[in-house]
Amino acid sequence: MLPDNVFVSGHPLIQHKLSILRDKKTEPKKFRELIREISILLAYEATFDLGLKPKQVETPMGIARCNELTEAIGLVPVLRAGLGMVEGIWDMMPGAEVWHIGLFRDERTLRPVQYYNKLPVAPTVQVCLMLDPMLATGGSAVATVDILKKWGAQRIKYVGIIAAPEGVERLHAAHPDVPIHLAAVDERLNEIGYIVPGLGDAGDRQFGTG
Ligand code: PRP
Ligand code: URA
Repeated sequence: MLPDNVFVSGHPLIQHKLSILRDKKTEPKKFRELIREISILLAYEATFDLGLKPKQVETPMGIARCNELTEAIGLVPVLRAGLGMVEGIWDMMPGAEVWHIGLFRDERTLRPVQYYNKLPVAPTVQVCLMLDPMLATGGSAVATVDILKKWGAQRIKYVGIIAAPEGVERLHAAHPDVPIHLAAVDERLNEIGYIVPGLGDAGDRQFGTG
């Protein structure tokens, strides 16, 4: 049983695209397209509760009572693999700010090592969408939320694609207030910290490395 604020999308478009994304025969170009498309769909689901305020708009036919967003949004991709999730979402919300965090997992200890942080001194947005396709041990996600909270971020949502149960449990235990949006929760982690069946290394598959 997953906690109430862990959402695993059953949307048919997401599930169909995920099946192609996982396939080891999928080349980097197609892989990047799928990361982009799945991210847009997941972000659509993850932003269902953004605040709105009423706004009147004059159409050619009269006055329409509309709504506009009240909250400024920050997109926080975790380098490298989170980079591929930004562009598509940003097209959907062009007013968003993008703040990069660079982390890699030490292959031996599996602990996250921070090497880049482009956050401004104080938060400029109300909602942060943290973007990283893979939630494996959860170490990178917990470290990123720690950084964002220390910075002063008010509302943080994690948007990922595939998680291991261990990663979901660790992120939720450390930060129960952070909703987790995913396309799938897989079976397990293997002995070297990869998600099984997963999709392999999300950074390498996007950038043609490894
Ligand atoms: C991957 C992934 C996450 C992290 C998840 O990044 O994009 O950031 O691993 O693993 P965790 O939950 O066990 O911390 P990686 O360290 O491989 O760096 P990369 O994106 O630069 O390839
Ligand atoms: N990072 C990845 O890219 N894939 C995994 O399975 C685990 C961590």
